[in-house]
Amino acid sequence: MNILILGSGGRESAFAWKIAQSPECQQLFIAPGNAGTGKYGKNVNIKVTDFEGIGQFVLANSVNLLLVGPEEPLVKGIHDYFLADERLKKIPVIGPQREGAQLEGSKDFSKQFMVRNHIPAAASKTFTKDTLQEGCEYLATIGLPIVLKADGLAAGKGVLICSSVEEARQELNEMLIEAKFGDASSSVVIEQFLSGIELSVFVMSDGAHYKILPEAKDYKRIGEGDTGLNTGGMGSVSPVPFADAAFMKKVEDRIIIPTVEGLKKEGIPYKGFIFIGLMNCNGEPWVIEYNCRMGDPETESVMPRIASDFVELLLGVAEGNLDEKELIISDKTAATVMMVAGGYPGEYLKHKTITGIENVRDSQVFHAGTYLDNEEIKTSGGRVLAVTSLQDDMFHALQQATADASRIYFDGMYFRKDIGFDLL
Ligand code: AMP
Ligand code: GLY
Repeated sequence: MNILILGSGGRESAFAWKIAQSPECQQLFIAPGNAGTGKYGKNVNIKVTDFEGIGQFVLANSVNLLLVGPEEPLVKGIHDYFLADERLKKIPVIGPQREGAQLEGSKDFSKQFMVRNHIPAAASKTFTKDTLQEGCEYLATIGLPIVLKADGLAAGKGVLICSSVEEARQELNEMLIEAKFGDASSSVVIEQFLSGIELSVFVMSDGAHYKILPEAKDYKRIGEGDTGLNTGGMGSVSPVPFADAAFMKKVEDRIIIPTVEGLKKEGIPYKGFIFIGLMNCNGEPWVIEYNCRMGDPETESVMPRIASDFVELLLGVAEGNLDEKELIISDKTAATVMMVAGGYPGEYLKHKTITGIENVRDSQVFHAGTYLDNEEIKTSGGRVLAVTSLQDDMFHALQQATADASRIYFDGMYFRKDIGFDLL
């Protein structure tokens, strides 16, 4: 079969690497892809939100399955677009329709969904500019620190953690009245702070059945020791030692089953990934957020641990028989170190030549923000390369990924050398 992956990051590189290994996959296309995805399939120069262009390409190239990497096309309704077209509706899309994608596209929707389905989450209320006064009063009642979340998609920047009521009041005002995050902050969720250690849990669902993929831990801050500005993610590790069988049983019983059942009960079709951002508070799991896609850089640590055929699992999602498919997970540990451009997550350097990838010894290099300039690989994004090593134990995976990242060079490059060492 022919498969098209939408996206251009490290996540899509890891998908492409895994899918290209499947005997089920004949032709693989990645739109738009990057300098690395061209090794696994054919890059196609179409934007992920150009639904018309994607639809035409799918028909012209007999694509049999569309795997959507990022959230934006899902929240904008690419799956609905396919279902509404006579010629496209038989081609399965992996990723929910617009309504299900609201789990990520609207924090208010996802909080209400959790309340309706008794899923453990921080207490919260949602306010708009018409209820600003009530919002300010609520701020004083929930304890410090206070979490403010722009309701809509804000490119990962829409969550603020405020250490005083005064600061929160000011930020709330900026979000609601001054449109700090544009339309995304026309509604704001005010939420209690959860204190604990975070992890990412991934579920594949065909709308009726589910499979739990390997969990992972993501390192979001730019600096070592988890300091400095938030980023898209500087590295990841899978498995997560504290997510033992007892903890994961709580996650499944209290969160995963009520989520899948809740979607079913509420008549929300859902074929795709559910990414649950969790806080482990003294051994109890609480939901921080849902995403309607896989995580990045978590996917770069999750894919290498899936020992079975990933295309078979995608077909299970498409055909509604995921329960009949086999998911084999490797006992090994995968560690991912993200190499980023100088200046990231602020204004960052671009068009720097990357050398030394051929010197990597025992890791996979998943490209993210890269492009080919004649024969040279150059940087284009803030997050440039994800270096993943799969080893028998966590120490060796971390050591190998870090050592292999050191073998690669581009001007201004930076990576954290402490990913995962807090878990050892
Ligand atoms: P989100 O965009 O919802 O993933 O939030 C970004 C980050 O903010 C999360 O990864 C957490 O580190 C933090 N965060 C969000 N909500 C809470 C909360 N209720 N308590 C503590 N930290 C939170
Ligand atoms: N690594 C977090 C995310 O993909 O949102």
